Amino acid sequence: MKTNKLISLMVALVLTSNGCNNAKVVGSNQELEGKLPAPKLMGEISVEEALNLRKSVRKFLDKPLSIDQISQLLWSAQGITRTRGELKLRTAPAAGATYPLETYLFTASGGYKYNPADHSLKKVYPDDMRIELAQASHGQTSVSCAHAVFVFTYIEERTSQRYGERAYRYICMEAGHVAQNIHLQAVALGLGSVPVGAFTDDKVAEIMQLPENEIPLYIIPVGYSAEE
Ligand SMILES: Cc1cc2nc3c(=O)[nH]c(=O)nc-3n(C[C@H](O)[C@H](O)[C@H](O)COP(=O)(O)O)c2cc1C
Repeated sequence: MKTNKLISLMVALVLTSNGCNNAKVVGSNQELEGKLPAPKLMGEISVEEALNLRKSVRKFLDKPLSIDQISQLLWSAQGITRTRGELKLRTAPAAGATYPLETYLFTASGGYKYNPADHSLKKVYPDDMRIELAQASHGQTSVSCAHAVFVFTYIEERTSQRYGERAYRYICMEAGHVAQNIHLQAVALGLGSVPVGAFTDDKVAEIMQLPENEIPLYIIPVGYSAEE
């Protein structure tokens, strides 16, 4: 194990107080690269029930998510639902359909980038990076202990080319839509989630080795709730 990985592990152990033990692998090592199962368009509970049950969940069980659950969560965030001419439109609205957001998923088996066009994941990080992401998020154990950690980044030019200075505002609004989709979808799947906005942008960008024009915006850990 590399020294910086070992340090991350030790720091995380000190920070952990919710029963999640970072000394063990938390999560499944299942490889997720490739085309995902088709999302289901009918669920078990109504939108109203999901709204009523949604709450921030910060403590998670050490219980893996299925590939169907992962697929459904990614689709709820940025999945393609229909076309308008050449444009492929998504579950969440985007100002002028400029789609500035990129979606990443971090699990025990590494980090993946979501491609909405064919509903697939491409592995872009070989290692489990959740502990480093938690450290960059002021030690929030929701990030290190969730089996699925979604990170949304944005590329401002995509939206500013059309909307100039209002782009940043529009991007943040869109991220809110995306986040709420994930929160409600998580509830509908019997899972819990929490929006995480408190992190150091530069640290997350460094961990993810993002290009200069791609900025981290939102982190959303998802898993089986360990809360009452
Ligand atoms: C933009 C935003 C950023 C947030 N950042 C964090 C965060 O970094 N860590 C955290 O534990 N909760 C975070 N939250 C969750 C809020 O603390 C939570 O929504 C609020 O306390 C209300 O509780 P509820 O979500 O259970 O209704 C954030 C929420 C929003 C909307």
